Formats: sequence, C-alpha cells, structure tokens
Amino acid sequence: MSDIKKIKEEYLSKLKSKIDISQVNQIKTDLFGKNGLISSQFKNIGSVVEAERKKFAADLNSIKDELQDLINSKVNEIETAEINEKLAKEIVDITLPERSFVQGKIHPVSQTIDEISSIFSEIGFSIEEGPDVENEYYNFTALNTPDNHPARDMHDTFYLDENKETLLRTHTSPVQIRTMLKEKPPFKIIAPGRTYRSDSDQTHAPMFHQVEGLHIDKDINMGHLKGCLNYFIKEFFEVDKIKMRFRPSHFPFTEPSAEVDIGYEIKDGKIVIGEGDKWLEILGCGMVHPNVLKNAKVDPLNFQGYAFGIGIDRLAMLKYGINDLRAFFECDYRWLNHYGFDPLDVPTNYRGLSR
Ligand code: PHE
Repeated sequence: MSDIKKIKEEYLSKLKSKIDISQVNQIKTDLFGKNGLISSQFKNIGSVVEAERKKFAADLNSIKDELQDLINSKVNEIETAEINEKLAKEIVDITLPERSFVQGKIHPVSQTIDEISSIFSEIGFSIEEGPDVENEYYNFTALNTPDNHPARDMHDTFYLDENKETLLRTHTSPVQIRTMLKEKPPFKIIAPGRTYRSDSDQTHAPMFHQVEGLHIDKDINMGHLKGCLNYFIKEFFEVDKIKMRFRPSHFPFTEPSAEVDIGYEIKDGKIVIGEGDKWLEILGCGMVHPNVLKNAKVDPLNFQGYAFGIGIDRLAMLKYGINDLRAFFECDYRWLNHYGFDPLDVPTNYRGLSR
C-alpha cells in the first residue's frame, strides 16, 4: 500500500473510534499542521515521477477531503452530544412563582414636555436649557425689566440672597439672553424647564413649568409668530381647527406684546378645544424688544423676531383632563399610576424625541 493510503486507513479508523475533542484537535495537527502527514505529502508532489504525478496529486486531494470531512462531522457529533448532555442535566424549575415588579409611569408634565419639544423640532426649533438658579441680571435687567417692576418684589420672587442678586428664575425668558450671548443670530430655539414664583392655589404652584420660544432672523414679523403658535396648538391638541385670539398685553421684554387665548367649550363634562365661546389664556408673547437684543449683543437694526412663553402645566391639564395643578407635584404614587403614561404607550402626535 502507498504511504498516503496507509495514512488514510490509519486515521479513518482513529476518527471512527470513540475520541474526545482534544484528540480530534490532535489528529488535525498530525495531519494538517505545518509539518503534518498530509501537508508534507503535498510538498512531495514535485518529486514524484512524472508519469504518476497527476494520479498521486488527485489521490492526495481526495484523501485530504475525505479526512477533513470526517474531522468536521466528528466535531459536530461531539458538540451535539455535549449540548444534549447539558440539556438533560440542567432542568429549569418552572413551578417557581414569578417575581413581582412595579412598572414606573411617565409623569404627565414630562410627557407634555416631550410632545411640545417634538412638535417644535419638526419646524426647525432646537432645544436649549438654562439654570433654575439665575442671576438677577439674566432674569430681569437684561430683559428690560425696570427696577420698580412688581415681578421683582419679594412677594413674587424667591431670592436666594439678601442683595437680591441670585434667585429662582421666575420664567424661562433668561434662556433667551443666554442663548443669544452664546452664539450668532439667527436663533430658533425653545427652552422648556422649571420656573418659580411665590404663589400657591388650585391653579398656581410655587414651582411650575414653562417653555420659552425665540425666533430671531432678518425678516421675522408678527405673522410668523401667529403662524407658528397656530400650528403648535393644532398639533398639540390634535385638532384641525382652533380658535385663537391675541389680546394686547405688556411685557417689558417684548413690544408689541400679547397674551394668547384659545377657544373652548365644555361638552358632557369634558373640555373641547377649538370650539365654543369660552376663552382660556395659555401663553404670553410678542416681538422681542430692541433693548433686549442690544443687551444680548444682537443688532436690532439687522435682526428682529418673536418670543413666547407657554405654561406647560396648564397645557397638560387641558389635554389630559386634570383639574388640580397641585396634584402634579404631590408625588402621590396612586395619582401617577392613574394619570401617568406607560413608557411604550405613545400618543399619536408623539414623534419620538428622546430627552
Ligand atoms: N416670560 C413671560 C411670563 O412668564 C412670558 C413671555 C415670554 C412673554 C416671552 C413674552 C415673550 O409671563
């Protein structure tokens, strides 16, 4: 018998006997390693007499294939046997009772902030943030608020020091100044967050939420403001038509200024937005005052625009039929369980902005 036939016979019988994975690996090295029996036969091809060379090479190749196939199926066989043995040994006890767990809920205010951010993002607004603890300058002075303005009063504002230099921001408007000082115009931002005023009754909490809007560019006018708010309110309340009215108002940081009401009626004990003859105030807005632009290093002769401040909690109350604002912040788990949102139960107009 030729050398290669001998190798074949010997290793076929080895591979057919009962061996483990390390023995299979050893066989692999013996045959196909760098100086393995088969590998060295390949190096021999050149020295075989020419008449027999072709047949030798063909035989060698088919022996190589046969041995490799056998090795592969042996490895398979051993692995399957191992898995079967494991399955038979490791039994899962499915009679164990399940562990109880409580799924958290998303607070209606967080949900509403997500929805608002998502709607404004769609029309090109980006999101800014500012600190809750503010300087008097950003909260009042830079916003053109005179020294004798009632908002500066101790009764209205939580000051954090005797000199009235630091305070809990009374609105999100200081983010307007911070944003404009940070970058160059144009600006198109919203800034949701917490705000604080010394106030507490069924519709006022000392801590509440606002979302500021600011859009500054070369040719922005009040028509843009109206269009933007109209779009937002329709999207937010998921209605095709709304009634909206601009009431002249006054804010030191906008000129002209307006408060915006939306029309509603009560049908079967529920609020219906966009119909009826009742009005509800939901935001303050106006064209940014030139003094505010100057304070924020923006040239009022080149740039102008609008700003608005929306009460988030009130929007959440309206949309989700919640009638006491204070319940929002009482941390009553039963309340949250009722009014909160399942993390995966997303409303139809929510477009998946992550916070
Ligand atoms: N900051 C105002 C408030 O808290 C709302 C507002 C924002 C008005 C922006 C005009 C422009 O009442």
